[in-house]
Amino acid sequence: MSTSVAPYLVFDGVTKRFGDIPVVEAPFDFAIAKNEFVVFLGPSGCGKTTLMRMIGGLDEPSGGEILLQGAPVGPPDRRRGMVFQSYSSFPWLTVAENVAFGMKYRKDIGEEEKLARRDRYLDLVGLYEFSDAYPSRVSGGMRQRIAIARTLAAGSDVLLMDEPFGALDAQRREGLQVQLRKIQKRDAKTIVFVTHDVEEAVFLADRVVVFTKRPASVAAEVDVGARLGPDRTLELRESAEFFALRNELLHLLRSAAGEDD
Ligand SMILES: Nc1ncnc2c1ncn2[C@@H]1O[C@H](COP(=O)(O)OP(=O)(O)OP(=O)(O)O)[C@@H](O)[C@H]1O
Ligand SMILES: [Mg+2]
Repeated sequence: MSTSVAPYLVFDGVTKRFGDIPVVEAPFDFAIAKNEFVVFLGPSGCGKTTLMRMIGGLDEPSGGEILLQGAPVGPPDRRRGMVFQSYSSFPWLTVAENVAFGMKYRKDIGEEEKLARRDRYLDLVGLYEFSDAYPSRVSGGMRQRIAIARTLAAGSDVLLMDEPFGALDAQRREGLQVQLRKIQKRDAKTIVFVTHDVEEAVFLADRVVVFTKRPASVAAEVDVGARLGPDRTLELRESAEFFALRNELLHLLRSAAGEDD
């Protein structure tokens, strides 16, 4: 357990089984600070999505509990926004209506502000010109961007992002990484992000957590924030420290997957 962060989102002795399959066997204790950007890395099938689903309230721990600001998380609510591997959109709504959907029932912001936010996030993900299209008419990568824009527009405090950029081309992906990191710092979001892309992990994270293969436990933690600082620019990607972190994580991942040592 990391003891250096003030607890905001806490796994308190969490275990998880699906029938005979232990996904998290040893009680998992883990704390995430407010406004922290935590990236989960680990072998395929180790349990990353399961951990995210439990934070989101889509799955329940078999033992222990997950606390947000000291209270157990319940069913999904607006405090936790989710973008998942199998991103979804509402086929009967246009692209713009999909993005606006997350704000629909909010009473604390007016209609004008909702429209402004909708357009801002449509623009951010490069979909403004497709506002009136239906999701069935756009590509998989574009549908993924709809889900990202909807979640960001909804304004949740905690963002749970499970390989959100997986279907995007390299340039779009890099652009969105820069934007996401900016938004996270500017709007003080707490983000838990899963990726298989080690460079994406280094670029985005304050802290990277490397999991062992299933049953998942923490193999290593790397304090990226301490080494790269808070500001992430594209130039940083070419720095020696960035490459050192990348290589370190690649090595840790290999060990965690049991492929060497
Ligand atoms: N609803 C379920 N019922 C039974 N087993 C499940 C269920 N959901 C997940 N599992 C199993 O739990 C384990 C962890 O799955 P999970 O999807 O959390 O892994 P992951 O780390 O997200 O993998 P990937 O990197 O491939 O997305 C796998 O062995 C999976 O088959
Ligand atoms: Mg997964």
